[in-house]
Amino acid sequence: MQKNLWKMEKEQRRLILRATPILFLLVLPFFCLAFDFFWGNRIPVDRWMNYFSSTSQTSFNKTLGEQEFIKFHLRRLVRGEDRRNLDETGFACDRAVHSIVCVSDKPVRIDTTRNVTVYIPSDQALEEKETVIRPYAKQEDELKVISPVRMLQYINTTVPPACQYEHKVPAVIFSSGSTGNVFHEMNEIIIPLFITTKQFQSRVVLILEDYKPSFMTKYGKVLSKLSAYEVINPAANQSVHCFPGSVVGLKYHDNLALNSSDIPGGYAMPDFRHFLRQAYGLKFTHVSQITKPRLMLLSRTNTRRFLNEEEMISLMKEIGFQVIVIRRSKVVSDLNKFSQLINSCNVLVGAHGAGLTNEIFLPSGAVMIQVELIGTEWASNTYYGDTAHAMGVRYLRYKIEPEESSLVKLYGRNHSVITDQGSVYKNGGYRAARTIYLDQQNVRVNLVRFRETLVEALSIVTDWKGK
Ligand SMILES: *[C@@H]1O[C@H](CO)[C@@H](O)[C@H](O)[C@H]1NC(C)=O
Ligand SMILES: *[C@@H]1O[C@H](CO)[C@@H](O)[C@H](O)[C@H]1NC(C)=O
Ligand SMILES: *[C@@H]1O[C@H](CO)[C@@H](O)[C@H](O)[C@H]1NC(C)=O
Ligand SMILES: *[C@@H]1O[C@H](CO)[C@@H](O)[C@H](O)[C@H]1NC(C)=O
Ligand SMILES: *[C@@H]1O[C@H](CO)[C@@H](O)[C@H](O)[C@H]1NC(C)=O
Ligand SMILES: *[C@@H]1O[C@H](CO)[C@@H](O)[C@H](O)[C@H]1NC(C)=O
Repeated sequence: MQKNLWKMEKEQRRLILRATPILFLLVLPFFCLAFDFFWGNRIPVDRWMNYFSSTSQTSFNKTLGEQEFIKFHLRRLVRGEDRRNLDETGFACDRAVHSIVCVSDKPVRIDTTRNVTVYIPSDQALEEKETVIRPYAKQEDELKVISPVRMLQYINTTVPPACQYEHKVPAVIFSSGSTGNVFHEMNEIIIPLFITTKQFQSRVVLILEDYKPSFMTKYGKVLSKLSAYEVINPAANQSVHCFPGSVVGLKYHDNLALNSSDIPGGYAMPDFRHFLRQAYGLKFTHVSQITKPRLMLLSRTNTRRFLNEEEMISLMKEIGFQVIVIRRSKVVSDLNKFSQLINSCNVLVGAHGAGLTNEIFLPSGAVMIQVELIGTEWASNTYYGDTAHAMGVRYLRYKIEPEESSLVKLYGRNHSVITDQGSVYKNGGYRAARTIYLDQQNVRVNLVRFRETLVEALSIVTDWKGK
């Protein structure tokens, strides 16, 4: 009996014990309200709502949340051995075939007063280590115009200079030193910048070395969509900045390409095209949204010229296209307007050359016609043909006959320049071959053959009607 009573008491005690926190939680808001009532607005409503969240295990510590976010996304930029290095030392570089990207997930200080220097704390019993890279996506290119960035893993805490500006998000350092050619700008800066920074959801500060106002005019919309913060020009803002982490250099995948399996993982060409449409406010997603056949002809005025351009334009009009002719001018460098103009066309025509990079702004299902000159087959396919496919753009190749090339007049029909292009590259070297095929060659397009390609393009872009 006694034992039973004791048992009951124990049961009740346990119940009461269990109920206490619940009762407490139920009473707390009234207590807070009363507190608020008697002592005025000393506890704001959102504060006492926090009492509940802070008692639960899953409470969101905003500081920690932000730190975890930064660490998680910085880690995505390295893999395998490099990631282990990053975890152990707070610093690691991804060295791939083309690109080098150095990541630090520790609080860094970036000194821009002379050459840009990143100070990275090293708490290991290691020696001080210095790494210098030129932050450009294709390391095999001419890098003289890209200013170097020094990264110093220091042990002596008196080494780094004092902070002048505190930033809450990581820094990404890259260069616009090598600009002026739209292919190289897209291939080696804009796409790699997207690959490297998109995952941070605008929570990065961009530090742009070799800052060029013309680059900012052209791509400012891209930069401001990738970062919510003012771009830092180190030459104009010479000071010491503190960041919770840093990235030096941009990740490169392939020619005008994004590989969703490669670092950081998950980004493919459709993502980039979607991003560009948003950045530049492009209206057309798919070619079916454009009702009339509209063709843009990229007219080169220096090298690789169309010698019978007027006849080509007449032919295009005769077939039924509205023709927009673009000659190298202010039109092209005003990318904010030019991207919208390309996007409103369903066919883009040009001789092999950087201008074809603009196919990236075409709506899906549009057609790109490349006039492939003698000796440019590899580059034509690699740079613009293969990449069209990844963009959802139809690629029509117009490969010229030797008779259409001005090189026949220059060298003779039976010269190895015409008959054995491989030997020109092999014996003369890349530069010599380039001079011949890219700089000396113009083309007089065979209108009978070219008509077939244009008619095919027209049928592709008008096929959507009634569907
Ligand atoms: C949140 O986490 C950070 C980092 O661990 C810690 O410094 C801070 O005190 C935490 N804040 C709260 C309110 O718990
Ligand atoms: C800055 O870098 C250049 C190389 O681009 C080098 O010649 C120069 O000595 C460096 N200046 C300082 C102060 O480190
Ligand atoms: C760190 O550097 C300062 C001055 O540069 C020097 O006085 C100090 O002895 C150094 N400390 C160590 C532990 O090396
Ligand atoms: C330098 O950068 C800091 C931080 O982004 C900014 O607050 C400051 O206004 C800049 N100074 C100049 C001269 O641009
Ligand atoms: C994409 O990246 C992965 C991982 O780096 C690689 O194995 C694969 O070959 C790449 N694919 C292409 C088409 O380059
Ligand atoms: C080119 O070679 C072919 C046969 O090899 C010959 O018939 C033709 O006359 C030659 N043309 C010129 C322009 O030398």
